[in-house]
Amino acid sequence: MRMQLPDAGATEAMGGALASTQPSPAIVHLHGDLGAGKSTLARAWLRALGVTGAIRSPTYTLAEHYPLRGGAKALHLDLYRIAGAGELEFLALDDAGADLWLVEWPERGQGALPSPDLRIDLAVDGPGRLATFLPGSPSGEAWLSRMSKTVACDPLLTPTGRKGPQPTDP
Ligand SMILES: Nc1ncnc2c1ncn2[C@@H]1O[C@H](COP(=O)(O)OP(=O)(O)OP(=O)(O)O)[C@@H](O)[C@H]1O
Ligand SMILES: [Mg+2]
Repeated sequence: MRMQLPDAGATEAMGGALASTQPSPAIVHLHGDLGAGKSTLARAWLRALGVTGAIRSPTYTLAEHYPLRGGAKALHLDLYRIAGAGELEFLALDDAGADLWLVEWPERGQGALPSPDLRIDLAVDGPGRLATFLPGSPSGEAWLSRMSKTVACDPLLTPTGRKGPQPTDP
C-alpha cells in the first residue's frame, strides 16, 4: 500500500490512522532519509495514543519511553547516531517490555532489533511525501487491511491512484 502525504498535516493524520488500527504488540520500522517525516509521524502516533507531555526526538538519547493510555508502553528509537548494532545491548530494550516500537533508522540496528510487523518507507515527493507500507508478519497484514479501510474514510489521506476531492466536485 502507498499513500501520498501532501503536507505535514497528512503525515500526522496518517499517524492517527496507524494508532487507531494498530495491533498490540506492534513493531514498526520507519525508513527514510533525513527530514523524510519519521519523527513527525511518530509524534502524532504517540499523541493519538494518549501521550500528553513533551515528545522529544530521541536523536541524542537514542531511546525514549512513554506510558500510553490503558497501561501500554511505547518505545521510540532513533538509531541514526549509533556506532553499531552492539550499542543497543546497553539500552536493555528487551527488558523495557514495550508494546509499541517505533524505530527510526532501523537499518543501523540490524541484527539487534526485533523484526517488524510493519515497515514504513517515507520519501520526499515534490513538496510532500510518499509513504509505502510493507507488512512483515500476519499481524501486520491484517493491520494494513484495517488501515486501508480507515484511510478510505479520511479526506486528509489519499492513497495513490485514487483521485482526491476535486474543486469541481459537487
Ligand atoms: N507530508 C509532508 N509534506 C511536507 N513536509 C513534511 C511532511 N511530513 C513531515 N514534513 C516536514 O518534514 C520536516 C522533517 O520532518 P521530521 O523531523 O519528522 O523528519 P525525520 O524523518 O524524523 O528526520 P531525521 O532522520 O533527521 O530524524 C519537518 O519540518 C516536517 O514538518
Ligand atoms: Mg527523526
